[in-house]
Amino acid sequence: AVLADAATLERYAYARHIIRQAGEIALGMFHRRTELVIEEKGLQDMVSIADRMVEDYVRAQIAARFPDDAVVGEERGGGASDARCVWVIDPIDGTACFVNGMLAWCVSIGVLVDGKPAIGAVYDPNADELFHACQGQGAYVAAKAGETRLRVNDVVSLQGGVLGVGFSHRVGTDTFLPFLLDVLEEGGMFIRNGSGALMIAYVAAGRLIGYFEPHINSWDCLAGIVLVNEAGGRCNDFLADNGLEKGNPILVGGPRLYPQLAALALPRCA
Ligand code: IPD
Ligand code: CA
Ligand code: CA
Ligand code: CA
Repeated sequence: AVLADAATLERYAYARHIIRQAGEIALGMFHRRTELVIEEKGLQDMVSIADRMVEDYVRAQIAARFPDDAVVGEERGGGASDARCVWVIDPIDGTACFVNGMLAWCVSIGVLVDGKPAIGAVYDPNADELFHACQGQGAYVAAKAGETRLRVNDVVSLQGGVLGVGFSHRVGTDTFLPFLLDVLEEGGMFIRNGSGALMIAYVAAGRLIGYFEPHINSWDCLAGIVLVNEAGGRCNDFLADNGLEKGNPILVGGPRLYPQLAALALPRCA
């Protein structure tokens, strides 16, 4: 395993600190969500001042502490850069849940170091669960009960648990619906809670046996990729073909189920 250097470990500690603060800000706005004006960015894609405020807060903190680092975020943009460390943030993942009063939303912060996913943090303020991982250090969840090491659920078939899925109208339904049909015909079951970042963290935690979405953006999954890798799972080559800026399909799962999932999902995305 690649071991993290001092610069990476410093950012790992900071990511864990900053994401809790971001989560507290988001949670305060969640409790007052009826006062928010909801705008529609695209079909079934909402945004409010809460998303922008949380992203601006995280960006300001990162800029003050690590002025040479680059940031990519859902609401304020950014892209590939020469910086050694690139922070990839989704201030609120699961906005549809957030604005409608459901609990499945989180803050997601990932960091690329030398172009590779190196740090991942996903914080669910409602559950007070912080999923975090750094390359070569393992993956963990910190909750009220303490901190536990994460391990993917190494099932051998789709019948061994529940698969997470996601869908957005950024793509057509032609990949997704046949995939769901195959999963059901194999005796599998799927769930979509509205937050891709949280569901990928659940794969790392062994709660879900895998996650597939035909197109997802880097801020939705970069943290999750580190979590899953460090929890012993497998992941597709998400960053291929400029996935950082354009997004790609995402597929994660336990080591023994992954090949079967890949055979069902990935040829359809090509
Ligand atoms: C969305 C959620 C959803 C996933 C979409 C994302 P947002 O992010 O993660 O679960 O299916 O692809 O865009 O808009 O709630 O931050
Ligand atoms: Ca969005
Ligand atoms: Ca998102
Ligand atoms: Ca978002």
